[in-house]
Parts: sequence; C-alpha cells; structure tokens
Amino acid sequence: AAIEKGNHRHYMQKEIYEQPIVVAQTLQTYIRPFEQQVALPDMTFSFADVPRITIVACGTSFYAGMVAKYWLEQFARVPVELDIASEFRYRQPVLEPGGLALFISQSGETADTLAALRHAREQGQKVAVVVNVPTSSMAREADLLLPTHAGPEIGVASTKAFTCQLAVLAALAARVACEKGKLSEEEEKDIVLHLTEAPAAMNAALAHDPDIEAMAPLIAKARDVLYLGRGPDYPMAMEGALKLKEISYIHAEGYAAGEMKHGPIALIDDNVPVIVLAPSGPLFEKTVSNMQEVQARGGKVVLISDAEGLAQASEGTIATIEMPKVHPLIAPLVYAIPIQLLAYHVAVAKGTDVDQPRNLAKSVTVE
Ligand code: G6P
Repeated sequence: AAIEKGNHRHYMQKEIYEQPIVVAQTLQTYIRPFEQQVALPDMTFSFADVPRITIVACGTSFYAGMVAKYWLEQFARVPVELDIASEFRYRQPVLEPGGLALFISQSGETADTLAALRHAREQGQKVAVVVNVPTSSMAREADLLLPTHAGPEIGVASTKAFTCQLAVLAALAARVACEKGKLSEEEEKDIVLHLTEAPAAMNAALAHDPDIEAMAPLIAKARDVLYLGRGPDYPMAMEGALKLKEISYIHAEGYAAGEMKHGPIALIDDNVPVIVLAPSGPLFEKTVSNMQEVQARGGKVVLISDAEGLAQASEGTIATIEMPKVHPLIAPLVYAIPIQLLAYHVAVAKGTDVDQPRNLAKSVTVE
C-alpha cells in the first residue's frame, strides 16, 4: 500500500510522531513480557565468548552505535570500538580473533557499511546487524540479524529508525551483559522495565511539540548552533546537530559538554544558540557548570531537561524544553524527540524541503 502522510504536513513529522508505536513494536519482539527478560533471535555463538565488539555505521546510525558503546561498556563491561564505515574500511583496523562486528543501518544497503561488513567477515569476525529493511544486503549477510520494526522510513533525515535502533541496542546490551555474567536476573528485569516505559515517555515528550515550535524562529535566525551533552547525551548532541544541518542548512556542531573549554567556547557570543541536553542525574551538575561557562560569555542557552533539572538550572536561559523524568537508560530515546522536532520546525520556518533536503540521499549506495 502507498505510504500516506495522513494529517501530517511532511513524512518526517509523521515519522517523528510514529515513534512511540514503532519503538513499542520493536521492543515487543525483544522482550518476554512475563519473564521480564530480553529475548534475541536464535544464535550460532554466545556473547560470553566475545572478547570485543566493534561497532561500525554511518550518519545517524553511527550515533545510535555511539550510544550503544556507552551501554555495552557500562552494563556488559565488554570493550567496544566504534568507527564510521568509510574510515574503518581503509585504516587497517586490528580485529581480535573471535570478536563481534556490529553494523547498524536503516537501509541495510549503505555502500560503506556493507563493504565494512564484508571486510570484517574476511577478517574472521562474527557479524551482527541492526537493520530496518529485513530483505537488505546486510540482513542477508549477517550471522545475527536484529531487525528494527520502524516500518518504511521516507524522510531522508532518519528519525524513527534511529529510536528503534536504540531500542534494539539497549536490549542487545542487556543480553550481552547477562551472558557475560554482569547482570543479575533482578537487574535484567529492571532494564526491561525501564525499556517498556520508553514509549509512554516518548509520548510525553511529543506533548511539548508546541513549545518547540514556538521557539523555532529563534533558532532559524542563527548561522551557527552548538549542541552540548555528556555521556550518552554527547552522541545525542551530535545527532541533534546533524538533524539541524541536514534539513535546515544551519551550521551546527555537537560537542561533549566538558570539551567546550578546549576550543568551541571561543565561538560563543550572543549570536550562537547553545542547546544543552541535560537530564537530571549523576552528570547533571557537571553539564550545568559547562552551561554556565557559556552563559558567562553571553551565550544564549536553550536547556532541555526534566522538571527537576529545569527547577535547578533554568536561570539565564533563553528557553527551556521540559522532558519527562526518565531512567538514564531510556533518556536517549526520549531526548531524540525534542532534537528532531526542533530541526523539523526550524526547517519549516526556513521553508526548506524537509523530506528531500538538497544534496542528500536516503540510501547512499556509492562510496
Ligand atoms: C544517509 C541518510 C542518513 C543516514 C545515513 C546512513 O546519509 O541521509 O539519514 O543516517 O545515510 O544510512 P543507513 O541506511 O546506513 O542507516
């Protein structure tokens, strides 16, 4: 059947709004509801024997991989290496025998990622893929196929495929941790519980769409925008910047909040909006102190946090976006929503072609 936009003005908007449903659909296939355990498809090898995981992807899928690196190292204590596919292929990476190479791709056809997959296989790695198109080349060539169930994604800028990738990767991290003996049954149940809370939290985030739309004209005037975050919010900051560049053509950079002082702070003046992703939690105070360094130099800060965080740190910001208070594990799935909506509304305000941005292709099958 033809894919319709329904009540939405653009496919991207429709796909942003579909996320709670498709993430729930995806999670359903990775969770046993009664046992509250993570379930992966049948495997020909055990994660217990995997000494190292190498994650390779491009674009938005790469940022999903970067979030997964934080999770896998935190929960499973397994060393994770991460690279973009076009670099991985040619830098003669040292791959440990018995290692697992994990490829993430919406299309399953991105030329650089597919070539990286073949290279890893030739080097004796086991190959796992997280893909949205189950009939794709990458799906066919994998030892372990982990599908996302986002449904067809039409907007060139990836949204729902990204959050579904995160859902699968969180389940994978929990499974690897169990098999490596790093997670008790109780801890696994706890992770499963938080994952199942994600769709409702994503809905709560979508409810703030009007606030985001209202502040979009402010950002649309900017020539440069910075995104800051720490921990898993660092890749999310980069994803936020990528979304904005892709569809609004505004120059944007994502930075680790603590790295600001080593360069980008030189850019700060009152023309550069700085969007800070800071859920309350263990890293909150640190990120806020980086944010205050920006404010002290006249930077215009937009703070995205939960009620608790906003109550502590809204002073001096030019705008805030409230997110529901969530467990740190699912924060990336929830904070994806405001960064996508912000890019969307800024692009609409600028009148760019949201679904078909200039110079970009949905699936890049050339090197
Ligand atoms: C293109 C798209 C991006 C996407 C990237 C990787 O550049 O415009 O949105 O993130 O390819 O695509 P993949 O299908 O491998 O996830």
